[in-house]
Amino acid sequence: MTDARYRIATIPGDGVGPDVVAAACRVVDTAGAQFGFTVDWSEHLAGGAAIDEYGVAIRPEDVEACGTADAILLGAVGGPTWSDPSATVRPEQALFALRGGLGLYANLRPVSVHPALIASSPLRPELLAGVDLLIVRELTGGVYFGAREEPAGAPGSRRAVDTMPYAEHEIRRVVELAFQLAADRRGNVMSVDKANVLATSRLWRTVATEVGAEWPSVTLAHQLVDSCAMLLVRRPADFDVVVTENLFGDILSDEAAVLAGSLGMLPSASLGERRAEHGIFGLYEPIHGSAPDIAGRDLANPIGTILSAAMLLRLSLGREDAAAALEAAVSDTLDAGFRTADLMPPGGDTAGLNQVGTQGMTGAIVDRIAIPEAARETAAARP
Ligand code: IPM
Ligand code: MG
Repeated sequence: MTDARYRIATIPGDGVGPDVVAAACRVVDTAGAQFGFTVDWSEHLAGGAAIDEYGVAIRPEDVEACGTADAILLGAVGGPTWSDPSATVRPEQALFALRGGLGLYANLRPVSVHPALIASSPLRPELLAGVDLLIVRELTGGVYFGAREEPAGAPGSRRAVDTMPYAEHEIRRVVELAFQLAADRRGNVMSVDKANVLATSRLWRTVATEVGAEWPSVTLAHQLVDSCAMLLVRRPADFDVVVTENLFGDILSDEAAVLAGSLGMLPSASLGERRAEHGIFGLYEPIHGSAPDIAGRDLANPIGTILSAAMLLRLSLGREDAAAALEAAVSDTLDAGFRTADLMPPGGDTAGLNQVGTQGMTGAIVDRIAIPEAARETAAARP
């Protein structure tokens, strides 16, 4: 049997990005050996690393090359070295070039709480049981991509402008995706807006209602973003799929991350319309930032990136087998008591826990990626 081959572009980026991307590559290669596939990795510079090397956050040829792979795995970009507010070249521009340039309009951020990590969250344990929600954030529109006027004028009368445009089709396609995803989950969509203030939100609400009419089996509720923020910490287990515009999704997803015990746990997928050879083309990244203070010190939690790689295997490569194996291995590793520093319960009981670094956590996950001998023989016997 010839092994399947996949092409994944990696963008390690800055700070802990290289640490966590290396960890995820190791885990994916292990799964490949188990399940009979090979990944051809190609690495690209973006963020501060690209600014230092080329003077831009990402070169157009790197965006293009990433766009021809089956999928992209990204670590994180940014850091204090490149964060001068008056700079015209900033690491985050790489993200916008990739998202906008490759048409990745839907950002999926699943949040679930592993039972073993309930003590790591600052929220009361009884609120966290059964939390399993999915934030679908619009990613290529709104204030992130609207016209801007940078601060100008004399001190005392300086002004700046950001604008928040949304076209109907930009809303419709992401809301439709949210409904599709909800139909395979618990059948509830919450559309989040600020329709009592913003014109774009009123359009959002109208379009969401129209899409909802085509999905009689899925329940649609509208929620204002401020009250959604409150409900997320008050009754998080009631949430299923949340769909919202770019900036609201950015803010709500960091808030939701607190439920999972650590920002370091959470994966994301950014998807567009392009079908690649084995699935839908996408960019996968943990939702945490570059954490420059712990970069290169074997301290970063690799789980968010490893779970992002699991989403990549499932959605872009059609490898449900390997995706499920990665997720089970992460779960087993947490059950066995392995914890990176960010997952240690705050001032809590550490009995039975084993604090490890990035490498230790990755090694423990790698050790748990195994398929039963019998299944391996069946796979090998397949023509
Ligand atoms: C995210 C990040 C980015 C965003 C930043 C780094 C520009 O916060 O992916 O959520 O705001 O989209
Ligand atoms: Mg964010």
